[in-house]
Amino acid sequence: MITKSPYLLLVNGPNLNRLGVREPEIYGTESLIDVVSSVRSVATEYGVEVDSFQSNHEGELVDILQQHGPASLGIIINPGALAHYGYSLRDCLADIDRPTVEVHISNVHQREAFRQQLVLSGVVRGQIVGLGTLGYRLAALYLLQIAVAGIAKGDVRGAEMMQGGEKR
Ligand code: DQA
Repeated sequence: MITKSPYLLLVNGPNLNRLGVREPEIYGTESLIDVVSSVRSVATEYGVEVDSFQSNHEGELVDILQQHGPASLGIIINPGALAHYGYSLRDCLADIDRPTVEVHISNVHQREAFRQQLVLSGVVRGQIVGLGTLGYRLAALYLLQIAVAGIAKGDVRGAEMMQGGEKR
């Protein structure tokens, strides 16, 4: 059996590999590599690792979430445009019993009508929209804080993950 340090799962959907060059006036100039390393620096302070994945394909995102979601402390996901119509992603997250924060760099509520529908809303713990790439770090902080609080409350599963690593 492999033991692994506690980790947050960071998942980015379609076109987020283009962060930093794609429509910088909307999404800013930080690259995805910059975002991942900034989330890692937050997590490191808690002795937690970050497993990061990006894919332009919904099925592949489902595979990643099924494989790495259940043993994670929590999930940070920017689903990209799949946020507006990705029902298999929604079903997948509904099946994974880990706290999940949905992040959107832009304020989707102030944009085109098709971005107003967020199909993951019912299955995520919360959403951070419009705060730029800082939203990813804030999401990480939330998940780390509730993991620590879980230990204090005798949350056996969270405590196992934070102390000594999860067996998988
Ligand atoms: C986005 C918003 C989506 O509407 C868009 O399709 C993206 C990025 C954001 O981070 O603001 O790809 O998720």
